[in-house]
Amino acid sequence: MAVSSTLSRLNLLPRPSLPYAVSTLRALKFRPMCAPLTSFSNSFSAHFSTPKSSPEPNTQSPGAPDYDFIVLGIETSCDDTAAAVVRSSGEILSQVVSSQADLLARYGGVAPKMAEEAHSQVIDQVVQEALDKANVRETDLSAVAVTIGPGLSLCLRVGVQKARKTAGRFNLPIIGVHHMEAHALVARLMEKKLQFPFMALLISGGHNLLILAQDLGQYIQLGTTIDDAIGEAYDKTAKWLGLDLRRSGGPAIEELAREGDAKSIKFSIPMKQHKDCNFSYAGLKTQVRLAIKSRNIDAEIPISCASHQDRSSRADIAASFQRVAVLHLEERCERAIEWALNIEPSIKHLVVSGGVASNQYVRAQLDQVVKKNSLQLVCPPPSLCTDNGVMVAWTGIEHFRIGRFDPPPPADEPEDFLYDLRPRWPLGEEYAEGRSEARSLRRARIHPSLTSIIQASLQQQR
Ligand code: KG4
Ligand code: ZN
Repeated sequence: MAVSSTLSRLNLLPRPSLPYAVSTLRALKFRPMCAPLTSFSNSFSAHFSTPKSSPEPNTQSPGAPDYDFIVLGIETSCDDTAAAVVRSSGEILSQVVSSQADLLARYGGVAPKMAEEAHSQVIDQVVQEALDKANVRETDLSAVAVTIGPGLSLCLRVGVQKARKTAGRFNLPIIGVHHMEAHALVARLMEKKLQFPFMALLISGGHNLLILAQDLGQYIQLGTTIDDAIGEAYDKTAKWLGLDLRRSGGPAIEELAREGDAKSIKFSIPMKQHKDCNFSYAGLKTQVRLAIKSRNIDAEIPISCASHQDRSSRADIAASFQRVAVLHLEERCERAIEWALNIEPSIKHLVVSGGVASNQYVRAQLDQVVKKNSLQLVCPPPSLCTDNGVMVAWTGIEHFRIGRFDPPPPADEPEDFLYDLRPRWPLGEEYAEGRSEARSLRRARIHPSLTSIIQASLQQQR
């Protein structure tokens, strides 16, 4: 991928509307004291340290004026290279996303080695662009937040290396962020009334998660996918239907589905017999593939060249697939709400986030589910549902202000440093009553969950 062509496609969001005075910020800048560099354990495995001089825990609502600081967020866990600069007040100073849409369209999915190369080619420019758009320099930052998992190791490494180089050079603390926590917490940046506890349905290309967020870093996993995530099913369906994948498969299916009859093909809803909150999309993918084959649809013929009848047949498949894919979400959410309200009766919100949450049909259907249960749906805007740096910066801000961060890395960290990357990293502990046989057989954890790490560190402090 040529750097110039990638850069020309950088999705640059407009500057914040509020005038931003660097001098004021500098005056207000909060810079917590970190453990001295000499005591720094360069394993980066602690993930969170709580220095003695950490800021007071923020008991106010998110975004409430307490002290002011700025965090740079870096995200490279999958196929988007993203960076953003966000103020602790929640003001988004800049957001830059460089997508690998060309590669996705060419290979029909993410090829880790190529994705890594593409990240490496643009990471410096993306971060610089984010700083420039925000009109800040590294010296104006209080910390750097970066996704350390889950995701593709090769890709995570590019972001972590950039974050550590920047943090090391400018002596900044660093916050290792859980990608799925970031998808959930960005809703708190948008909706200031969103307090813990709340529920979240996180739907992306690699994950389907239903969680109960009890507190920052404290999550109960009500359900997860036992095979493919919904975004993967959208992407494959789009590929097999010969759709234009340059904006990824989801939006292409959403658009085509509007032309189709959603009840024309009777796909069966996954896992109806399992009365839990887990998900499965592998079977639906197979049903879709068979339906495509039986209608003699040739994915080699792009939809733009298809006959009227062929197009309408593809639209029927897209619409029928989407209806059932989302019915599966609805059914699981209904049950999860019941479970969550048993655990935490004060819950008022269901957050729906992750790339698939930018889908209007998904939002409308889930809105009906939550309203039926007297809850409120919180969906970040589409640009914050798909992978972005803002969610990483914001999650960094949430942890940083209660003192969870790592001290600055050494400025001269070697290139071949072994970073602590967490490609498979559960967010929370599984809800015991929701454990399904299928899931427990397939579990392959590499890292303890974020919640268990935080609980262990809290116990140590007592
Ligand atoms: O959260 P995300 O940007 O990256 C991951 O963490 O995976 O999600 C990407 C996924 C892709 O599968 C993409 O097809 C899907 O989100 N997606 C959508 C829509 N926009 C993105 N799926 C359905 N409808 C959409 N409008
Ligand atoms: Zn994501």
